[in-house]
Amino acid sequence: MQVTKTIKETRELIKLWKREGKTVGLVPTMGFLHEGHASLIKKCREENDVVVVSVFVNPTQFGPNEDLEAYPRDFARDSVLCEKIGADLIFHPEPEEMYHDPHAFVSIDLLSENLCGKTRPIHFKGVCTVVSKLFHIVAPDRAYFGQKDAQQLAIIRKMVLDLDFDIEIVGCPIIREEDGLAKSSRNTYLSTEERKAALCLSKAVKCGQEIIAARCEARQVIDAMKAVIEAEPLARIDYVSVVDALTMQSVEKVDADVLVAMAVYIGKTRLIDNFSYEV
Ligand code: PAJ
Repeated sequence: MQVTKTIKETRELIKLWKREGKTVGLVPTMGFLHEGHASLIKKCREENDVVVVSVFVNPTQFGPNEDLEAYPRDFARDSVLCEKIGADLIFHPEPEEMYHDPHAFVSIDLLSENLCGKTRPIHFKGVCTVVSKLFHIVAPDRAYFGQKDAQQLAIIRKMVLDLDFDIEIVGCPIIREEDGLAKSSRNTYLSTEERKAALCLSKAVKCGQEIIAARCEARQVIDAMKAVIEAEPLARIDYVSVVDALTMQSVEKVDADVLVAMAVYIGKTRLIDNFSYEV
């Protein structure tokens, strides 16, 4: 497994592989890898000749009062995991390699305004910008994203469609802890007490999955899920929403495929979870 820090050396390696007729898969990450990331890298390994993992804590997707500085990093551990799964290359640039100020942004506004975009107004603009750059640098045949960040996945699919990236976007299911909590690098912020409280998210998902039905009112699902979360004293709801699976716009009735998504603060840590429902 190789590690590159610059765009130039990354491009040179990829060109060599492409000349040999190899297919390239890309797994974009911000590092501090866990089994959620590992599931994407494994799937990428199964489906491509060459596996590229990017590890880059992308500054442009963090708001001014967010956790860019505190975001957990452990590149040595990430490398061991990638090597074990059989990745061929980790692209691990410094921010100065990726951004020269002032620089252009890519944004897919309509899908970015609702849900997480309301509380994190610049987040998806930063995500689309860095993912576009990674797509241009690595030129993968396929790129792998988790359903854990369902709005991000929907936005990337729309970006690929709108901007004609010749890349297949592969969505991968949410990997959870044994007790149901969705795996996340941010789970490390939780105290023992908060870790227990965080279970209200996956409990709310279960509750929502049990009561949702074709043509039911979105309100019913939202209220039942909110009641589960509000029963937990350490939890504070950012949003619980039922949105159209493609447009991310809120719906009143479940009469097309929907995403049921939530963000909840457990103490100071903001966690997300979701499920999809097909009518
Ligand atoms: P990061 O949070 O590191 O996540 C990298 C990828 O792993 C994303 O596609 C995310 O959805 C997926 N992932 C995280 N936890 C998961 C879980 N429990 N189950 C399944 N997949 C999971 O998402 C980002 O980084 C960044 O926004 C990025 C796309 C790299 C752009 O900077």
